[in-house]
Amino acid sequence: MALLEILEYPDPRLRTVARPVSEVTDAHRTLIADMLESMYEAPGIGLAASQVDVHERIIVMDLSDDCSAPLVFINPDISVAEGKQTSEEGCLSVPGVYAKVDRYKLVTIKALDVRGKAFELEADELLSVCIQHEMDHLDGKLFVDYLSPLKRKRVDKKMEKRHKQDDS
Ligand code: NI
Repeated sequence: MALLEILEYPDPRLRTVARPVSEVTDAHRTLIADMLESMYEAPGIGLAASQVDVHERIIVMDLSDDCSAPLVFINPDISVAEGKQTSEEGCLSVPGVYAKVDRYKLVTIKALDVRGKAFELEADELLSVCIQHEMDHLDGKLFVDYLSPLKRKRVDKKMEKRHKQDDS
């Protein structure tokens, strides 16, 4: 397995719209194992392939305390979305930034598993938020896009400073 580099905002590659996976192959399974390892290492609770510069519709998550419940969604699609909830989100591509975002409360998601088998899952609370956040990545969207222009400007400055420090 290998640790993958996670792209950071405002890297334009994060804006790429990912294409659907036509067939789940061993190469995808290797990618998924690497994505999970990279997510655990970060540490984070969700990661989209877009964040590691692979523009295919794959997301991984694990909301457990001990990395014991990996979830994989290939070609995820939300078929039902209801209600509203607001919670604080963060993102491995926007390190150190947390902000409140409005999301659907309940979602029903259809996807393929690592063997290419279709499944359906109903999600609420944190899992629902995480699914919506990661699926946004596949469409080139980031949680900071939901912020007010003023808050967004603060995020831009913070990230600019971070990347300047990296370069020096
Ligand atoms: Ni994210």
